[in-house]
Amino acid sequence: MNAKIEQLLEEIAGLKAQKAQDLEEIRTRLLGKKGDITRLFEDFRTVSPEQKREFGQKLNALKQAASQKIEELRAALEETAGATSSSFDPTKPGDVQELGTRHPISITREEIISIFKKFGYALAEGPEIEDDWHVFGALNFPPEHPARDMQDTFFVSPGGENPILLRTHTSSVQVRAMEKMPVPIRIVCPGRVFRNEAISARAHCIFHQVEGLYIDKGVSFADMKQAILLFAKEMFGEQTQIRMRPSYFPFTEPSAEVDVSCNICGGKGCNICKGTGWLEIMGCGMVDPNVLEACGIDSKEYSGFAFGMGVERIAMLKWQVKDLRHYFENDVRFLREFETSM
Ligand code: DAH
Repeated sequence: MNAKIEQLLEEIAGLKAQKAQDLEEIRTRLLGKKGDITRLFEDFRTVSPEQKREFGQKLNALKQAASQKIEELRAALEETAGATSSSFDPTKPGDVQELGTRHPISITREEIISIFKKFGYALAEGPEIEDDWHVFGALNFPPEHPARDMQDTFFVSPGGENPILLRTHTSSVQVRAMEKMPVPIRIVCPGRVFRNEAISARAHCIFHQVEGLYIDKGVSFADMKQAILLFAKEMFGEQTQIRMRPSYFPFTEPSAEVDVSCNICGGKGCNICKGTGWLEIMGCGMVDPNVLEACGIDSKEYSGFAFGMGVERIAMLKWQVKDLRHYFENDVRFLREFETSM
């Protein structure tokens, strides 16, 4: 027994393991159920009582030496595995961070703004929660106008002289600008607007507009026509034509509705333009003298034009999106389609 213990001690001292499997083999061979050391412990039962003490100590020392060696080998293996593991390759490129894409409405709004910035227009913004004066009163809406009805407008606090409401158009920003800014004024006002409307393929209760305003001495209808034509060409392509149809808005006189030649059929008539060759894109007009006066601008000295367009509508025409609700559902398969348009 003594000789066997000596032999095993020597063997243990020289043990080596290249891989985890070697280590497991060593452990089973020495300490497993039928391992050499386990077997020696079984033989120990037959040792005479006088020798038990001596062999007991030797066997325990052997077992400890084996366990210690196995631990050392395991630690060494783990260390080398950490350095050369195939699952970690420091030369590989890092994981790509998935970025979202810009929303088509933001892309369109930015494009509209950047076109007008090129023409010298500055950016102006106003609050979404407004008062009746800035949305209706100063803009020459008569008191009984249907837009002032609960059916069309979301009121925050409906009572009193000047009710608080969610703005129904960004024309309210022109009022704020005229009240504050010195003339001449040349601004575009992008923003979110709210109307109490049933949601459908063509209408939503929340949407976006860009308003434009130019006030100076001697501004004429011809100036407006030229500004809008240049915008349409930049937005929809050089071949684009515009036409104006007489219309009515309380805050402009005269007022017009602007159509652009259909960019799908080139004006021949298709199902997008419903066979007319034209697509409606905005309302516009010469700022009513009543509006200028309400905002503290002398209407005898100054004149100006204003226009307002729906961003969703422009985006639908530009990309031929048939249902406005797509813009609000945030389905990434839809939103990703605009990735390259940035
Ligand atoms: N505020 C109008 C609307 O929401 C759009 C508009 C029409 C704005 C004519 C204007 C304008 O400035 O001159 O439908």
